Amino acid sequence: MTDHPAADHPEIRAICLDCGHKVRYSPTLLACPVCQSQWLEAEYDYAAIGKRLPALTKQRPFDLWRYRELLPVYEPSPNLYLGEGGTPLIRAANLGMMLGCPNIFIKDERQGPTHSFKDRQAAVNVAALKEAGVIEVVLASTGNVSIAFSAFAARAGIKLWVFLTSLVPAEKMREIALYGTQVVKVTATYDQVKKVAAEFARQRGLYLERGTRSIPSVEAMKTIAFEIAEQLPQLLPEAPHNTPWLAPDWYFQSVSGGLGPLGVQKGFRELHQMGLIQRIPGIACIQADGCSPMVQAWKQGKDTAEPVVSPRTHITVLATGDPGRTYTLLFQRAKAAGKAIFESVSDEDTFRTMHLLAKLEGISVEPAAAVAFAGLIKLVRLGVIHPDEVIVVNCTGHTMPIEPTILGEGWTRDVVLPAAQPAEVLSAGETPVSAAQASSEQEGLLAALSRVTDDRFPRILIVDDTEDARRLIRRILQSQGNYAISEAANGRQAIELARKEIPDLIILDLMMPEVDGFAVLDALKAAPSTAPIPVIVVTAKALTAEEKKRLSGRIQSLMQKGEFMSDELLEEVQALIKS
Ligand SMILES: Cc1ncc(COP(=O)(O)O)c(C=O)c1O
Ligand SMILES: [Zn+2]
Repeated sequence: MTDHPAADHPEIRAICLDCGHKVRYSPTLLACPVCQSQWLEAEYDYAAIGKRLPALTKQRPFDLWRYRELLPVYEPSPNLYLGEGGTPLIRAANLGMMLGCPNIFIKDERQGPTHSFKDRQAAVNVAALKEAGVIEVVLASTGNVSIAFSAFAARAGIKLWVFLTSLVPAEKMREIALYGTQVVKVTATYDQVKKVAAEFARQRGLYLERGTRSIPSVEAMKTIAFEIAEQLPQLLPEAPHNTPWLAPDWYFQSVSGGLGPLGVQKGFRELHQMGLIQRIPGIACIQADGCSPMVQAWKQGKDTAEPVVSPRTHITVLATGDPGRTYTLLFQRAKAAGKAIFESVSDEDTFRTMHLLAKLEGISVEPAAAVAFAGLIKLVRLGVIHPDEVIVVNCTGHTMPIEPTILGEGWTRDVVLPAAQPAEVLSAGETPVSAAQASSEQEGLLAALSRVTDDRFPRILIVDDTEDARRLIRRILQSQGNYAISEAANGRQAIELARKEIPDLIILDLMMPEVDGFAVLDALKAAPSTAPIPVIVVTAKALTAEEKKRLSGRIQSLMQKGEFMSDELLEEVQALIKS
């Protein structure tokens, strides 16, 4: 990625899916300026890019950014790069032999930086958000999106709030917390959690990651299609085709909210439009029997899915009960492409498939990923998939358990709603939660949410003229503690903010143009309201004896930039704020 030539990125447009209005794209563009629709799609100059893409990609490393002309980021930052994309495409020879299908391939997304295909979504989003200057983000997820975003947000210095259902396994929650993300665990279904997170973001004016309505998220998933099309010709050298790249007959994926299939379908569509592949593959969306709203709608020929209010599956990663308009879009595009499958599988078959895949192919996956393979086995047995077809299955994820003892206490905030009925405790005979009941739970959740606020948290003012330095300190503080942070980019602003906000602590840089740290300190100590505020000086300057004397007795701590570890700064901050 570091080898990529500097961006010469053509303009990206967003087109409104409701009124067709076109506008210059920006990550903070949340709705169509004409009709207010939140459903926008990125559009590029396909004719021009299509001509250049095969040559451009030849010079670039095999990662997601090799398709940067087709991604909504103008200047990808090498500092955020974690090796996203570029996962292997592996022939499943043994599974293929068992099923009598010689051309089954596994797109091994377990090999991404946080071990799921959601790394792509996080990488592209965080790059786009950093470019747009967003510093705090809220999202709800069933686990893997939060893990992936946490890793990239850590690198970007973006504060992240994730809202999870209490059913997300503790190992995943711990991994998220380890990255320094604020974890809010809500006892409710995933659909309810999404609403709570959206309300939280709205109340606080924070950026909300909106999944299938977020342009960077959909665009990120396209790269799976691009990579498959580039990799397949090497694995099928005998296949006749007269385009540079090759599409399979089928793309299989386990589906929850439908972001993957929506993006992958768009990716193949774009390649087809640019003349790089000859056909658009069929998309096979596989859901868990206990939460399969898309499959039920598809089998009835409907373009709208009836929400599943109480998901009944152990595979909580796939527990989106209400796919909303995403299903309608998938339905319309499937009809247009003339080829699609929506099928569901039981939890039991899924677990059996996990064993099979590990034992036959040496690939250990989480249950959510195994759903796609269980679907493939079912459809081959039913004769829906033909033995001579070329099939790519997205092996969406595998999460390593994280050491349970390294986090200490208090790393989640729990929002428990007494009336809420988590999905898992519903047994077969019980009545599902009604819509009215769900809505009153919603109100209770929002009330409980008001406790998750940082109004009461200690206030810290960070003073540094370098933006990256401020970001780093902000990040260190937010990774472990609950602080309300403000920033000043110069001495004058620092004095003004300190007088206005009377923070509980100031972290002060010394070397700044015009009003330097010494002058700030003079001003603070001269006013009775600001004189008692404790100050930690963090400086890159080697201090002279005279300078040390100027600081002596007036500051609580002196830390040399580059020499202290993040936990030392934290300890200092915690000690000063307690006393
Ligand atoms: C491992 C895994 N597989 C599949 C999915 C389904 O993804 P989507 O429906 O958003 O494309 C998810 C979603 O979080 C996942 O984590
Ligand atoms: Zn519009």
